[in-house]
Amino acid sequence: MAEQISPSPDIGLFEAMYSARSLRRFKPEPVPDEVIARVIDAAIRASSGGNTQHWSFIVVRDAEKRRQLGALYRKASDYTAAVYAGRPRPDHLTQAQYDRFLAGSGFLWDHMADAPVILVPCLTKREPPERASLPDVVQARYADHLANVQRISGSSIYPAIQNIILACRALGLGTVITTNHILYENEVKAVLGMPDNAATFALMPIGYPTGKYGPLTRKPVAEVTYADSWGTAWPGK
Ligand SMILES: Cc1cc2nc3c(=O)[nH]c(=O)nc-3n(C[C@H](O)[C@H](O)[C@H](O)COP(=O)(O)O)c2cc1C
Repeated sequence: MAEQISPSPDIGLFEAMYSARSLRRFKPEPVPDEVIARVIDAAIRASSGGNTQHWSFIVVRDAEKRRQLGALYRKASDYTAAVYAGRPRPDHLTQAQYDRFLAGSGFLWDHMADAPVILVPCLTKREPPERASLPDVVQARYADHLANVQRISGSSIYPAIQNIILACRALGLGTVITTNHILYENEVKAVLGMPDNAATFALMPIGYPTGKYGPLTRKPVAEVTYADSWGTAWPGK
């Protein structure tokens, strides 16, 4: 399908957002380095807290490293499968939709390594300043400050990850954000030779997809939007 292998990024933004579904099955053909570079160049247009840009992106093409990452993803997914088994199906999904989701994500458990590229978005951790070095107003809320830093830890990389998803869509590639591997992150970091002060936030298999893009189905706006206060129905559709 020409549409799926076209290198043309001339796709409308909304068309990309509405069709960039999670794709987990890839053709074996390699993705040229310049195409991956273009994806990452789009990723780094994203915002980061304080414009720190303390991100790094590891492009894993080496077959042995992909095999090792795939094995760790498989191990982590066994655990995640047990978590899913204990959870009911979300109300908004039909049994058929839920079964499709389980089949798609289950396929990837065994096939992460088959993607020609596994992209690993990372952040370098920044140590919080010593309490005593901070102004009184911050010292007074130091525990809150640390909790806040922890809570927003991924927020300076996930916007870049969404750009990766959209750039892949525009360039005829498929991908999906996955996070299961974080259960075994130290082992993942060892495979990738990462320092202690860096953390991974996703494993993103990337390749030319065998399946089709979107359309994406979601709960309607009216169901997830409130007007001015929690629980007050949004008047639009
Ligand atoms: C934080 C996060 C973690 C995810 N982890 C996984 C994962 O480990 N494996 C996987 O196959 N998909 C993963 N996904 C993809 C979702 O399952 C997928 O986006 C969702 O089912 C909707 O599918 P769609 O994008 O095709 O509409 C993850 C998505 C997010 C946002």
